Amino acid sequence: MDLKQALEGRRSVRRYQRRPLSREIITDLLQAAECAPSAGNLRARRYVVVTREEMRRALSLAAFGQSHIARAPALVVVCADPPRSSRRYGDRGGLYAVQDADAAIMCLILAAHDRGLGACWNGAFDDHLVRDILGLEEGVLPVAIISLGWPDESPPASSREGMEAVRWEVD
Ligand SMILES: Cc1cc2nc3c(=O)[nH]c(=O)nc-3n(C[C@H](O)[C@H](O)[C@H](O)COP(=O)(O)O)c2cc1C
Repeated sequence: MDLKQALEGRRSVRRYQRRPLSREIITDLLQAAECAPSAGNLRARRYVVVTREEMRRALSLAAFGQSHIARAPALVVVCADPPRSSRRYGDRGGLYAVQDADAAIMCLILAAHDRGLGACWNGAFDDHLVRDILGLEEGVLPVAIISLGWPDESPPASSREGMEAVRWEVD
C-alpha cells in the first residue's frame, strides 16, 4: 500500500469479525512496531499480546467497559518502560519512554491497516487495574490497549484538515 493512501485511508475500527488472528500476523505487527524510532535507541517500550478471553474481558472492564476491547480477537498492550530510559536520561527519560511507546503504536496500527486489519488505539483505562491484570513490573506504564481484528465495519472518512493547528514561522 502506498504510504499516503495508508495514512489517509486508516480509520479506528471497533467492530471485528470473530475470526482469530494468527500468531504470525501478530508477530509481523510487532516487528513493524519495533521499526519505530526510539530515544537513544534504548527501545524503552514493552508489548503484551492478549488473546485469552477472560483477560480481554478484564481489560475491557479496566477500560471503563469499552466493549470492543473484549470483542476484539487480539489485543496488544503497548507499555512505556521509563526506568530503562531514565537510567540514561534522568527525568527526561519518562517522557522519552512514552514517546518510544507512542511511535511504536503508530507503526503497529499502520502495519495492521496495510494488512487489511482493523485496529483501534484505546487510551482510556485505569492504569492500576491494567497493571494488575497484566502483572506488569514496577515502573512500567501501560500506554495503549490496541484492539485488533479483521474488520466488520468501514468507518466513513472524517475531516483531515487540521491545518489550523499549524503556525508557520518562516521567511
Ligand atoms: C491517545 C489516544 C487515545 C484514544 N483512546 C481511545 C479510547 O479509549 N477508545 C476509543 O474507542 N478510541 C480511542 N482513540 C481513538 C480516537 O477516538 C480516534 O483516533 C479519533 O476519533 C479519530 O478517528 P480515526 O482514528 O478514525 O481517524 C484514542 C486515540 C488516541 C490517539
